[in-house]
Amino acid sequence: MNDRYAVIGNPIGHTKSPLIHGLFAEQTQQDMTYVAIEGPLEPADAFDDTVRTFIAEGGKGMNVTAPFKLRAFAMADERSERASLAGAVNAMTFENGRIVAENFDGVGLVRDIESNLQQPMAGKRVLVLGAGGAVRGALLPFIAARPADIVIANRHVDKARALVEQVGAEGSLTACGYAELESMGQFDLVVNATSASLTGHLPPVPPSVFSANGTAYELAYGKGLTPFLRLARHAGVQGIADGVGMLVEQAAEAFAWWRGVRPRTRAIIDQLTVPLD
Ligand code: ATR
Repeated sequence: MNDRYAVIGNPIGHTKSPLIHGLFAEQTQQDMTYVAIEGPLEPADAFDDTVRTFIAEGGKGMNVTAPFKLRAFAMADERSERASLAGAVNAMTFENGRIVAENFDGVGLVRDIESNLQQPMAGKRVLVLGAGGAVRGALLPFIAARPADIVIANRHVDKARALVEQVGAEGSLTACGYAELESMGQFDLVVNATSASLTGHLPPVPPSVFSANGTAYELAYGKGLTPFLRLARHAGVQGIADGVGMLVEQAAEAFAWWRGVRPRTRAIIDQLTVPLD
């Protein structure tokens, strides 16, 4: 029997993961299957049962998506440092009945920005909007990329402050509210990691944060020209991107972790790209 992998979420019909991993497997000639599983929402421990059944049936690894990232974190036997800071898991590997958990969202994002968009972050000014799970997942990889400073802006400033305190003195990290951004000058990279775009809303970010030579990155994928990207474009930003590259790169990280071979991503990103306008 070939090696079995899956993505678990609910709803799961929209997932691109089986397509992406199927293409990776074909490209790297791995004998494996990768399917989508709709995880049960009720009762609370039914998710754990579904994962354990998959393991008992020979499953080698799983990706985890909403709303189970915290549940997967709780049931893991071992967690990477970045998964621990995120408090959330997006990939698991099963070794002798033990669940080892990772979070590749942040590394996938950094890889997309630095390799695909060719915007090295070292020495740059980075602004991150939001202080939820997506930001917690991205923070350690962002710090590792050594920007000159990282500012985290959130409506509820306390949440951003708590995150900065949790990470400690590593890197130059600051938390603030949106109003304070007016006096903070321009940033080379502005990442919208709020969930505002999912509902068509705009975080109250002042246009003065954008720099024409910089990059505006929308974490959401396939939402077209979101209000955030529209604002960035009006502010004259040349480089605007959505999360398609991050989606494929986090998948590539998981694939390399599981299979020991790194797939090429460019053609798959192109295939999945939904034009911004
Ligand atoms: P995720 O896991 O996707 O990060 P989350 O943990 O629910 O989701 O966090 C959502 C983030 O989007 C939060 O930072 C939230 O801001 P608050 O903490 O101040 O609520 C932010 N957010 C959601 N809608 C927003 C909006 N319309 N404008 C600005 N920020 C918004």
